[in-house]
Amino acid sequence: MKILSARDYDHMSRQAANIISAQVILKPNCVLGLATGSSPIGTYRQLIDWYRKGDIDFSQVRTVNLDEYVGLDEGSDQSYIYFMRHNFFDHINIDLANTNVPCGTNLDEKAECARYDAVIRGMGGIDLQLLGLGPNGHIGFNEPDDYFPKSTHKVALADATIQANKRFFEKEEDVPRFAYTMGVGDIMQARRVVMVVSGAGKADIVKRAFFGPITPQVPASILQLHRDFVLVADEAALSKL
Ligand code: GLP
Repeated sequence: MKILSARDYDHMSRQAANIISAQVILKPNCVLGLATGSSPIGTYRQLIDWYRKGDIDFSQVRTVNLDEYVGLDEGSDQSYIYFMRHNFFDHINIDLANTNVPCGTNLDEKAECARYDAVIRGMGGIDLQLLGLGPNGHIGFNEPDDYFPKSTHKVALADATIQANKRFFEKEEDVPRFAYTMGVGDIMQARRVVMVVSGAGKADIVKRAFFGPITPQVPASILQLHRDFVLVADEAALSKL
């Protein structure tokens, strides 16, 4: 595990964007695993800026997103497919046919999970997976549990997650209760994992996840075992170490 300490959110975002940019330059048709939430927005903004300056070419890049709310589609501004278009894909030269997000409106859970796992396999796995960190230690939507789920599955969102994510919705009742998410096994198989974490509110969970025991009750803790895991965090998020 490598920890990069950043001064603040913008510095964290530039550091993460630098790592992703190097990946795309070294392997133009790489597979990027992408994340949503407020943490990676600055990283996407920086990558867009470098794209506009002519420094990065996304034309051959392929992507797989971590997760999607069950029941939402691209017409909903809270869906993760909408988030990705709005915050990243619509501003770069990526081919949308090369981007993948679990389909929230496919209510056939078995079929959707099998389809998404086949997508990841078909791409030959993930070269670089970008992650945020949930307030309860979740990665993607892998919530605290008694085991680490291996592959894509449907999950009931933890109350802590509903509370944390309700800020994006008009009211708490609007937050979907279920999501599709890649498994912890899929994430662990990515060749490199880069996590962005910012703010004093994440300081306790950063300490528990990366300096505490490896346990499915803190799903991110398993990243301690990843052979190429980079935590990019600002000083506030690292303040409890
Ligand atoms: C959501 C996403 C996670 C993300 C988490 C943290 O629950 N499913 O992938 O890491 O939010 O979000 P934020 O970066 O806004 O704190």
